[in-house]
Amino acid sequence: MKLIKNICCIGAGYVGGPTMAVIAKNNPHINVTIVDINADRIAAWNDEDLSKLPIYEPGLADIVKETRGKNLFFSTDIDTAIDTSEMIFISVNTPTKTYGKGKGMAADLKYIELCARNIADVAKTDKIVVEKSTLPVRTAEAIKSILHNTGNHVKFDILSNPEFLAEGTAVEDLLSPDRVLIGGESEEAIESLANIYRSWVSPEKILKTNLWSSELSKLTANAFLAQRISSINAISELCELTEANINEVAKAIGMDSRIGSKFLKASVGFGGSCFQKDILNLVYIARSYNLHAVADYWEQVIIMNDHQKRRFSDRLIKTLYNTVSGKKIGFLGWAFKKDTNDTRESAAIYVADHLVSEQAHIAVYDPKVSAVKVQTDLNYLNSRSEEDNLKHVVTATNPYDALKDAHAVAIMTEWDEFKTYDWHKIYTHMKKPAFIFDGRNILDKHTMETIGFEYYAIGQ
Ligand code: UDX
Ligand code: ADP
Repeated sequence: MKLIKNICCIGAGYVGGPTMAVIAKNNPHINVTIVDINADRIAAWNDEDLSKLPIYEPGLADIVKETRGKNLFFSTDIDTAIDTSEMIFISVNTPTKTYGKGKGMAADLKYIELCARNIADVAKTDKIVVEKSTLPVRTAEAIKSILHNTGNHVKFDILSNPEFLAEGTAVEDLLSPDRVLIGGESEEAIESLANIYRSWVSPEKILKTNLWSSELSKLTANAFLAQRISSINAISELCELTEANINEVAKAIGMDSRIGSKFLKASVGFGGSCFQKDILNLVYIARSYNLHAVADYWEQVIIMNDHQKRRFSDRLIKTLYNTVSGKKIGFLGWAFKKDTNDTRESAAIYVADHLVSEQAHIAVYDPKVSAVKVQTDLNYLNSRSEEDNLKHVVTATNPYDALKDAHAVAIMTEWDEFKTYDWHKIYTHMKKPAFIFDGRNILDKHTMETIGFEYYAIGQ
């Protein structure tokens, strides 16, 4: 087994940043350098003021404070970091393709390929290359081919080590993972990586598989998790038309130990950078092998999720007397889940877009998302001009401004602080009847109705 003294991680994002910070914290004898082509991002990681780190994750700033400048470094000098490391993690983004073959379905691997070519150009000594980003099955083969055909005849071992952390709990998930998965062909390379994790993870939790099982396990884990949410959301629609309550149904089925209680929260729809992308990937791969029944089966998880988002805005419009034109709707939350500033694929974006198409005026308050981000997210959909988005969607710096004179509140993210607001005060300053559409089922129906609100939740 090769002892690793220097690690380079390409990509200083939601995966690379927290993962490397935790590796550095638990391996003081290893120098970890995170590099990125985005100089602003690297500058933010190096900012003296830890509240300016580019990623918000509970507990992350403390670990960065403890390790930065000691054995954790952030840099834009990619070549030097590759050259001086024995192990290189690839943690760049792999968005869904927006052009050409596989558009809207397949993963865009251009960033991964650029990384592989960069490593091949620079490497003068043997390297272990670790895939950290979520990738379609058999990506390792592409990386291997590029490295072996363009490199300076040095030896490259490719490992797949998918990340299972969830945003908002990244540090916790990294510190006590359910399992660490390492796929590869070289037992020696696998051991070198396992050894790094053994600094804080017990050996029985470190699972070793072949490369392809590891890649496919990551996609499958995300597909199963997303499927649970679509399943409970499908039942939530039925609950709304019957006397059943989705929270009661979820509790009742969750107590069956075979089903389990986690990931059964009905919501306005799942978001995040992984679920939709990974399922689309799975669907694309299945179709490319002509497995149409398999592809259709998993695609239904996405179809249900889109339906849930649409259904939420349709219900809001219908309840507000079939029109939201010129009405103010206050959005609480824009992030795809609580405790993160990440908004990728957030249900809020799609619901807002639909409501703006119906000429609503939206005021957003999210504790961690900036006004610029809200506009960028909307503009990305290309539904109307940037000026029109600016005219229809504003961002408030506190919740009470966002909800003042609003016809309805839409709760889009389950931030804990929303539960503690002065809902009497909010009610007083809203238009009457004052409606709440709780897309996360975080408020108490009875309490809200006692205050005077007309309260609508998911599956109740
Ligand atoms: C997910 C996986 O959990 C993680 O293992 C993988 O590494 C990356 O993808 P993440 O996207 O960060 O993590 O968040 P997650 O907690 O899984 O939530 C995803 C979405 O599902 C969020 O929009 C969340 O609000 C929603 N959700 C989750 C529900 O609507 N109901 C639930 O019961 C759980
Ligand atoms: P994830 O959620 O997968 O971590 P992010 O988008 O948060 O995704 O982070 C990926 C990072 O990878 C971005 O900061 C991006 O600038 C960086 N990146 C993409 N391609 C390259 C490359 N070829 N070299 C260095 N960094 C890259």
